[in-house]
Formats: sequence, C-alpha cells, structure tokens
Amino acid sequence: MKTALVLNGPNLNLLGTREPQVYGSQTLADVQALCERACAANGFALDFRQTNHEGELVDWLHEAGRLQAAGTLAGVILNAGAYTHTSVALFDAIKGTGITLVELHISNVHAREAFRHHSYISPAAKAVMAGWGVNGYALAIAGLAGMQQGA
Ligand code: DQA
Repeated sequence: MKTALVLNGPNLNLLGTREPQVYGSQTLADVQALCERACAANGFALDFRQTNHEGELVDWLHEAGRLQAAGTLAGVILNAGAYTHTSVALFDAIKGTGITLVELHISNVHAREAFRHHSYISPAAKAVMAGWGVNGYALAIAGLAGMQQGA
C-alpha cells in the first residue's frame, strides 16, 4: 500500500479558531481524521504533518522525493499556507525532487487579496485545488488515487 503524504504549513495548526468565516470551524485534527477516511477509501496509508517552519517543509519534500523514488509514496498534498506566495525554496524543492505534488488551499485564494493570487508552488505542481473548504483534502486524495491509475 502506498502512502499519501499531506503537508500543512504555517498557521494551519490554528484551524477551527482562525478566521472561521474563511477557513471553517473544523480543526486540524478534524482534517487529519477526514484524510484518514479518504485514504482508507482510496487504498492509501496516510502520513499527515504540520509545521510553521519553511525549512522543515523543504526537508519533508526531500524525504518525499526519496520515498517516491523507492516506490512507497503515491504523492504529496501540500497546503503551504502563506509560504505559497513567498517561497522560492519550496518551488526549488518540488522541482529538485520531481515529486508528484498537489497544491491545496482551503479558501479560494483567487477571490481574496491580490498578494494571494501568485503562487510559487503552482508552476511545479501536478494539480491545484482551491476553494473547496477542508473537503478539498479528501478530493485531492481521490485525485491522487486517480493519477496512480493514469486518470
Ligand atoms: C491557505 C491560503 C493562504 O493564502 C494562506 O496564507 C493560508 C491558508 C488556504 O488554505 O486557503 O495560510 O493556504
């Protein structure tokens, strides 16, 4: 069974209390449980992580590259939070490892402030998901499963 690696960046540990009108009322633990269900339904094991530190995300992307090369990782779903809009290092890590990566945002970043309209992740991502609320995580996991079958 391959693993789906779900990585969450800065401030996503605040889900549930952080701007609930934008991000909803579910906590990160709720999102993890939702991802567990989606992975079980799609034949994946789940590895779910959150960090507030850019370099830790870079390290985890490198680890993902090694696991994908070894054939044990299906791909990465990355909600890089605000680093989406600032981080050349994340772009380089995705490009440098060649991992299959889905960029995810809970909110529709294109309907928000102009500074959220540019993403350093999108040009290196296989697919982009935004605006589906936390259910986007389940949709992205199903999408990753489809990619495994060449869909
Ligand atoms: C976010 C959108 C980003 O612009 C923001 O900085 C976040 C969360 C989202 O999930 O909608 O932290 O990635």
